[in-house]
Amino acid sequence: MHSAFFNVTAVRAAPLHQEFTQVRSDSVTLCAPLEIEDYGIQTMVDVSPPKWHLAHTSWFFETFILKPYLENYREFDPLFAHLFNSYYEQIGSYHPRPERGLLSRPTVKQVYAYRTHIDAAMQTLLAQTSHAQRKEIVRRTIIGLHHEQQHQELLLTDIKHIFAYNPLRPGYRQLPVSNTNRTIALSWHEQPGGVYEIGTDSAENFAYDNETPRHKVYLDPFRIASRLITNGEYLEFMQADGYRNPAHWLSDGWKIVQTQHWQAPMYWVKQDTQWYEMTLGGLRKLDENAPVAHVSQYEAQAYASWCNRRLPMEAEWEVVAREQAIAGNLRDSGYLQPMPAQETGMTQFYGDVWEWTQSAYTPYPGYRQAQGALGEYNGKFMSSQVVLRGGSCVTPRNHIRASYRNFFYPKDRWQFSGIRLAEDLQ
Ligand SMILES: [Fe+2]
Repeated sequence: MHSAFFNVTAVRAAPLHQEFTQVRSDSVTLCAPLEIEDYGIQTMVDVSPPKWHLAHTSWFFETFILKPYLENYREFDPLFAHLFNSYYEQIGSYHPRPERGLLSRPTVKQVYAYRTHIDAAMQTLLAQTSHAQRKEIVRRTIIGLHHEQQHQELLLTDIKHIFAYNPLRPGYRQLPVSNTNRTIALSWHEQPGGVYEIGTDSAENFAYDNETPRHKVYLDPFRIASRLITNGEYLEFMQADGYRNPAHWLSDGWKIVQTQHWQAPMYWVKQDTQWYEMTLGGLRKLDENAPVAHVSQYEAQAYASWCNRRLPMEAEWEVVAREQAIAGNLRDSGYLQPMPAQETGMTQFYGDVWEWTQSAYTPYPGYRQAQGALGEYNGKFMSSQVVLRGGSCVTPRNHIRASYRNFFYPKDRWQFSGIRLAEDLQ
């Protein structure tokens, strides 16, 4: 049996208790621009209120680390176990996801007090270096920090949706704007066919269980685009009746186009003849040189078909992307919005937008879901979803890697998700 589950003997840049402090305080910093009224809103089922993210990430440490391992640990509030469990069936009951926004209590103040309580208890536990279960405590703490970083990304994604829903179109904060006024020419990278290995068994670097085990894949020769598809290029598809011609659409996608009246990516707004786009900096004139974002996989696939190309397979993406440095427009750059490509050649593999692949989110050969509630983290979602790669402009740089598999339903578009093309090489 393959035993690699959340590979975390990982050497971290800083001692674990410092890393813990850093990641936990990042969540609080991200909420600093919010007003108290912003914390409790849920604008659709997929969106969680900021208050819920802050509490749930604390619940994770409390449930999986403090309760089992800290002697005489006192729960902050026993009812939080139900309120802030997301989906862990083996832990117990949980508040229905669509109703997270209906809870005016606990207050924001109480949620911050909950965080302080968890932080103090975690620091006590992390200081117990000769604890009999030290290895497991460290392993789970590292998982908890990566989990919190995932929620930091969701927090920004959800805040964007919350603000976009509001006709006042508030900005989350002032964001820098691009001074690039041209689109870099798209070129193609040719990759020979053959047997490759993808996934990871690394004992040194953190990985989620769904990235394991490392295994062989056969790929036919292919070409992959040097950069992401831009808003301007996507606009051409729209102007060519892309949303009105069923020829390029998958059946499920076409149904949504008709029932939801999709005519443009999510967050695009037309005023007179000009397109605008809702950003975390508020409503902005559409930047035609920036990568298109907030498209579903159906839209990405239809666009690719219209170009007589296709979306990459996840193995193709990984084989090419692992030769690229993990750099780009990630959260750390501070733009919080996809930005135009700056250079010719292979670029934008990391950051800007998550790249839809054509690959279903299924287990790698040899994958075994771990026993216990933590095994529910990734494995049980391996049905009906699609893999996205590369991180986005709201992903922390130290959270992403070539083997990282994100997954959403093909209809989803509130994430920063976009398009890179590929094609078969004859
Ligand atoms: Fe979670």
